[in-house]
Amino acid sequence: MTQSTRPTVSLIVPTYREAENLPELIAAVGAMRERNGLCLELLIMDDDSRDGTDEAVAQIAAPWVRLIVRKANRGLSAAVLDGFLAATNEILLVMDADLSHPPEAIPALVDAIAAGADFAIGSRYVAGGTTDEEWGVFRWLNSRVATLLARPFTAAKDPMSGFFALRRETFTQAAPLSPIGYKIGLELIVKCRCKRIVEIPIHFAQRQRGQSKLTLKEQLRYLQHLRRLFVFKFGNWAHFAQFAAVGTSGVAVNLAALTVLVWLLVPLRLAAALAIFIAMLTNFVLNRWITFSYARGGHFWWQMAGFIGASSFGAVVNYAVILITLYLWPVLETVPQVASLLGILAGLTFNYFASRYFVFRTPEPRA
Ligand code: GDD
Ligand code: MN
Repeated sequence: MTQSTRPTVSLIVPTYREAENLPELIAAVGAMRERNGLCLELLIMDDDSRDGTDEAVAQIAAPWVRLIVRKANRGLSAAVLDGFLAATNEILLVMDADLSHPPEAIPALVDAIAAGADFAIGSRYVAGGTTDEEWGVFRWLNSRVATLLARPFTAAKDPMSGFFALRRETFTQAAPLSPIGYKIGLELIVKCRCKRIVEIPIHFAQRQRGQSKLTLKEQLRYLQHLRRLFVFKFGNWAHFAQFAAVGTSGVAVNLAALTVLVWLLVPLRLAAALAIFIAMLTNFVLNRWITFSYARGGHFWWQMAGFIGASSFGAVVNYAVILITLYLWPVLETVPQVASLLGILAGLTFNYFASRYFVFRTPEPRA
């Protein structure tokens, strides 16, 4: 594609303590820009590094380079989103400051978007993509597992990449964004509902200067991010799946409690009732903490009372379904487990809807 037909580009580079990498980065981007006749502005989104970043950028004093120093709401993803809001060109492109991403791949990413892709990724994991040998086994494995966990959301081979491009309109039409941690690219793919994703192979180079900021804490945030994306994409089904998982743990708690109580010589019928109650309590705590975390702000004891109340109805529903099933199909007397299973399913469904719309309502919008 020739320079006249290429769309204009805003290159967003989030930085934290990257002063020593900036001269080389700006020079490399500048050379690529000249060679391709690209209309490109560079926005350096710095989180108030105070490591000489200001001086490094001022020294270069190129009209197409802008440094924006952020003082609030720190973080890689927040910096990128701020950059999108400050950008003035048609295509938004993001890359790291540490020269891990080759600026030479920028025209290919731009061309992919110009040709109709919703999202273009500088990818390590498509044919032709590579990473430096020094990449430790741990980082490689870590990256692969993270990518695998993103599989329900995108078929992209490298959705974790920090090197990507999209049209500005794609971003403005996004659902409310709430990235936590590092994976702003994945967040955009999901929330902008990107369908046509193109991956351009790149060589991901080892950082030569400065330090990586990807800590273990950031990695753990990724799990939280995935859960949010899950709820966004699958809505009530995601809540139901979590509710069912908690319920399954409740069955185990119930049986374990029963075993212990009987072993402590508590009379069987009392032990069974107590075990049900204990499982209800652990179910309550887990559901409040995980399944319906959006309602965590609600009153603990009221929610507990509501949950136990609703679960008791569920238990009655469960029992009633067993009685009805046995009445309709007396053959099942010999395999009461089948009747019991139907009862559990009915009770679970009842409990779910009662919890979702009654006990844990307060649906504060949170994507
Ligand atoms: N503004 C700002 N604020 N920038 C930040 C922050 C922050 O809190 N934390 C990191 N950055 C900048 C860095 O200065 C760098 O330019 C870029 O974000 C990537 O940070 P690195 O610390 O170099 O991350 P990495 O190399 O471990 O991770 C890269 O590869 C991952 C895939 O393996 C990034 O591209 C990730 O996005 C990517 O998932
Ligand atoms: Mn890096």
